[in-house]
Order: sequence, then C-alpha cells, then structure tokens
Amino acid sequence: KENIVILGIESSCDDTSAAIIQNGVIKSNEVAGQAVHKAYGGVVPELASRAHQQNIIPVVDQAIKKAGISRDQISAVAFTRGPGLLGSLLVGTSFAKGFALASGIPLIEINHLQGHVLAHFIKEDENDDSAPNFPFLCLLVSGGNSQIIIVRDYLDMEVIGQTIDDAAGEAFDKCAKVMGLPYPGGPLIDKLAKEGDPKAFKFAEPKIKGLDYSFSGLKTSFLYFIRDNIKNNPDFIEENKSDICASIQHTIIKVLLAKLKRAAKETGIKEITIAGGVSANSGLRETLQKEAEKHNWKLHIPKFAYTTDNAAMIAITGYYKYLKGEFVGQDVAPFSRMVI
Ligand code: KG4
Repeated sequence: KENIVILGIESSCDDTSAAIIQNGVIKSNEVAGQAVHKAYGGVVPELASRAHQQNIIPVVDQAIKKAGISRDQISAVAFTRGPGLLGSLLVGTSFAKGFALASGIPLIEINHLQGHVLAHFIKEDENDDSAPNFPFLCLLVSGGNSQIIIVRDYLDMEVIGQTIDDAAGEAFDKCAKVMGLPYPGGPLIDKLAKEGDPKAFKFAEPKIKGLDYSFSGLKTSFLYFIRDNIKNNPDFIEENKSDICASIQHTIIKVLLAKLKRAAKETGIKEITIAGGVSANSGLRETLQKEAEKHNWKLHIPKFAYTTDNAAMIAITGYYKYLKGEFVGQDVAPFSRMVI
C-alpha cells in the first residue's frame, strides 16, 4: 500500500498553521496565533500577512519535527487557496509553491470551507472509525460563513442554505463588541453565558424564507437594546452581563437550529455534522445533542482543535484530492472569495 504523507498549510486569516497527515491519520498540527490584533478589536490584514511571514517557516519546521518524519517522505503539499484575506493567503500559497518546487512534489489547492467540512475525516489513529457516512448535512458556522451543506462524497458538496448578510460568528463578535468585550468575542460570550439566564432578554429573530440565514437584523436589535438600556442605567451591561450573553447566545443558536432542523426534514438526512469556529460553542453543542436525541440524528461534533482554523483539515482534504490526482501547477494564485 502506498504511503501518502501530506503537508498541509493554512494561512487564510490570523492563524499560521502546518500539519502532517499520513494515510489519513494525524501526525502533527501546529498553530501559531497572532496576538498583534488584540489592540484593534479585529484582524488587521496587513499585520496578519506580516505575522504569517514570520511564523510560517518555524511552524512548518515544528510540524515536520513533531510528526517524526523527514522532509523527503512528504508526498505532496496542500495549501489553503481561499477564501480569506488575500495578503494572508499569499504567504501560505507562496510558501507551498516554493516547498513543492524545491522538493519536486505535487501541489494541491484547498478550499478552506471544504477543509472545515472534511475535518470530520481526520483520524486520530488507524482504528478511528468516527467519520460520518455519506450523505450527511454539515452546519458550517464560522466568522465568515453560515451555511448548510449536503455532503455526498469527500469532494462533492452542495450548499443548500447560507447567510444573506452576516455570519453567525460575526453576530457573536459584533454583539460582544457592543458590550465592550475584546475580539474575538464569541468564546467570551460562550464563557459568560454559562452563568446567565438564556430567557432573561428577548431579541428579534429573523424571518427569512427557505434554508437561508440572516444575522444583521439581530445585531441591530441587540445594538438598540443595549443603547436604550444604558440610557436608563449606565451600569446595565455590568449588572446583567451573563444574562445578556446567555440570551443573545440562545437566540443565535435558536436561529441556527431552526434551519438545520428544516434541512434535515426536507432532505431526510439524519447524519448531522457541525464545523467551523462557532461549532466550538458549548451552548450550540449541548442544544445539538438534545435535538439529535429528539430527532434520532447521528451527530458528529469535531474536536475543539479542528473547529477553528487549522492545517490538519487542509491536509486531510489534500489527502483525498491526492487520491484523485487533483494537482495544480505553479501558476496557481490565491483567491479571496472562493465558494463551495
Ligand atoms: O472558523 P474560524 O476560526 O474562522 C473563520 O471564520 O474562518 O471562526 C472564528 C469565529 C469567530 O467569529 C469566533 O468568535 C467564533 O468563531 N467562535 C465562537 C466560539 N469559538 C470561536 N463563537 C461562539 N462560541 C465559541 N465558543
């Protein structure tokens, strides 16, 4: 049997990551975050690309070392071509091209969103059989996307519902910002929500047709709610922090679940997965567990390490593209607006 070793490179936003996957099994997954953006309340693209440049070589070095392999064992390099910040993508793309050229190995372009979906196929060891069965539905919720996808095969996916404006992660982050919480606010809302009452406050839920999402109205309703309450009581946020967090989180989850349930019903698919940064949310995970029991779904929740941006998901997607011989040439360029 052929020994296939894939080096994955991810640099689409503000995490520089490299991973080694050998015959579908994870060998290493190194991630370097970028603290430089903290002071700005969001990712500053130019600073992100500079940090990627500093991080990429040490991160790749570390991934290869931790995997316990030598460079000449690598069969191919898979890299995130998009979507993402163009300057950030350019660093990973250029590195991958240089590495492939210098090593005389194939180059594989990866759609970051497909990577999130295929994170479910990363094996912890040879006997790991936790992967979902085709066809399955994937709720992909991140800082830039909220989509419901039918996955018919590794590389055969169809988006059947998506946000028409903001993503779920953006809704978390923007509401957190209104409350004066630092970026990214999603994980903080999650933490504070644990102490709060999810029914304490009510927010306007969007009424969008079909399987699509919308979060911009909710964001505006939240902004007005905070503004009006602060007028009467300047300490409103401080005094109600955990209740506000629990309530907004509850609303976002309710919106996400409503369309997912509808998608499961319409397609008859009972194998359900979640992916992307927001799938780290503990409230969403708990609610999904309950819904899965109620509707007899087979639920797959990814490991925390594979929910946010990471190169392991890029490498596993690269593995399946390698098996199909889907390679690209040195003329490939990053693409900031790629879709599934
Ligand atoms: O997938 P991701 O790392 O980046 C991309 O957008 O590609 O997702 C980041 C998003 C951010 O909006 C962040 O606030 C959100 O995921 N997030 C969370 C949690 N952890 C990360 N949102 C809610 N609860 C969490 N625990």
